[in-house]
Amino acid sequence: MISGAGISAESGIPTFRSPGGWWRNLDPMKLATPEAFHKDPETVWEWYDHRRQLVADAEPNDGHRALAALEKRGVVVGIATQNVDDLHERAGSGAVTHVHGSLFEVRCVSEGDVRVNRDVPLEPLPPVCACGSLLRPNVVWFGEMLPEDALARVAAAIEGRPTVAFVVGTEASFGYITQWALAARERGALLVEVNPRETSFTPYADVLLQGKAGEVLPAVCEA
Ligand code: OAD
Repeated sequence: MISGAGISAESGIPTFRSPGGWWRNLDPMKLATPEAFHKDPETVWEWYDHRRQLVADAEPNDGHRALAALEKRGVVVGIATQNVDDLHERAGSGAVTHVHGSLFEVRCVSEGDVRVNRDVPLEPLPPVCACGSLLRPNVVWFGEMLPEDALARVAAAIEGRPTVAFVVGTEASFGYITQWALAARERGALLVEVNPRETSFTPYADVLLQGKAGEVLPAVCEA
């Protein structure tokens, strides 16, 4: 199971590229790169603080809940999410890998150690480590590598030969998303996309279940 921003859309969390998405109005190069953080940590943190607030006030939706129910039945064995929110976990999913990091973790820019921080709002902004260096969001920015432990878990899930690989609520604009799905298909998985519309991934999918995750996934669960 690979998820993207679309699965949290029905919880009121904006996507990135769909209408109303962050990248329709904001410049990712000014908010989601190491260079932007180096130049203006306060502006970058203000955006992340706002997103933390949005997520803290949001609730998981029926799509998240259906996946958690399927995990309890042993049908879903893992979720690789590009989302930095915690809505999968709050719906009850346990086997969640955050390939782009987490909104509620901070990392010291000098020491590199990661800690959970759920303070909303964050004060002071930008937050500072006890060592005096800045803390940054523990997320993956443009130009950065994906976390090795997350990559290892995704590789293990693919090697586990899933019978179906769902790709839910994502534009799959990063090549590795399509590559993971195709690697699962090489090992026998049926590729099922869940999205209200066709995406760049659709030509690779065996099946497109066209609709909202909060409607399609409960129906899959029911079936
Ligand atoms: P996008 O905003 O690129 O794509 C969101 C997808 O969700 C679109 O294909 C929509 O059609 C779909 N969608 C919208 N509402 C939906 C719903 N109710 N149910 C199902 N699907 C729905 O978001 P991502 O593909 O997740 O990374 O973006 C990937 C990455 O790009 C993000 O993790 C972020 C961003 O830049 C970084 O910041 C590193």
